[in-house]
Amino acid sequence: MSTFPVRRLRRTRRTPALRRLSAEQHLVTAQLVLPVFVKEGIDTAQPIATMPGVMQHPLSALAEVVTDAADAGLGGIMLFGVPAVRDALGSGATDPDGILNRAIAVARDAAAGRITVQADLCLDEFTDHGHCGVLADDGSVDNDATLDVYARMAVAQADAGAEILGLSGMMDGQVAVVRSALDAAGHVDVAILAYSAKYASAFYGPFRDAVESTLQGDRRTYQLDAANGREGVEEALQDAAEGADYVMVKPAGPYLDVLARVADESPVPVWAYQVSGEYAMIEIAAAAGAIDRERAIGESLLGIRRAGADVILTYWAREVADWIRDRKDLA
Ligand code: PBG
Repeated sequence: MSTFPVRRLRRTRRTPALRRLSAEQHLVTAQLVLPVFVKEGIDTAQPIATMPGVMQHPLSALAEVVTDAADAGLGGIMLFGVPAVRDALGSGATDPDGILNRAIAVARDAAAGRITVQADLCLDEFTDHGHCGVLADDGSVDNDATLDVYARMAVAQADAGAEILGLSGMMDGQVAVVRSALDAAGHVDVAILAYSAKYASAFYGPFRDAVESTLQGDRRTYQLDAANGREGVEEALQDAAEGADYVMVKPAGPYLDVLARVADESPVPVWAYQVSGEYAMIEIAAAAGAIDRERAIGESLLGIRRAGADVILTYWAREVADWIRDRKDLA
């Protein structure tokens, strides 16, 4: 390969048009997914203090959010429910009248097949202790007892009309158990998105506000340790072997190495979740005048794409769809 002075790498960077021509990566609107919070018992959208620009929506406004996301060409919406009442077993998760299951039904009708309807499959929004599963007598999170609840939750979500279930609870064996429960209930076409390499992360902080989490302590006995990359790859491969249609790495930005490794080895498409803390860092730093908001958003998303994500969940999905439509330079 020739080098300087024959080869001048600045040549293809000289103008915006040349840079566009040379871009290796692009964001694709159809591969962006918007997380949406639906709160029981409110009439108007409520702001989330630690996530400027993101709202908790009332059920009555959900159809409009879904229609708007579909009109924009987004690939999906990922629904999270914020129930009015919680209990030790997370009963609201399996109840067809629970807020998340009702939201799924509303979203399915509004989507009318134009955008995929996805739902978070986890107990933390529904339990009064805030853990992702049910507790054993000693206070630990009981893996196998939780799997039974996930199986019922999955069928309730599929019955309500969810097309993709986001298994975010990090219980061992959850993909296999949910797959067989769905199949037994006749939901053979409902897909599983496994939050496979989900790390115990400080970057979920603002999300805990968004869903009004009651968690005391942390999730380190079931979510991955930040020190471990190889283990994240093993989680993804196991989930794919159990029948996951998609695997995910989460958070995205601090785990781009894991994302790249999973993207190399996964037999199924790889998603990444740019989580609430990644969102808040950029929004709040930009509001303080420290960084250029739009360029930082574009750069963060291109980094995730470059590392190997096929699909990205991001709270900026709706706004970025407009940038892509307007062919704005992203970073
Ligand atoms: C679990 C779940 C969490 C997030 C998505 N699904 C929280 C957690 O595991 O503590 C975090 C998403 C974000 O921070 O944006 N239901």
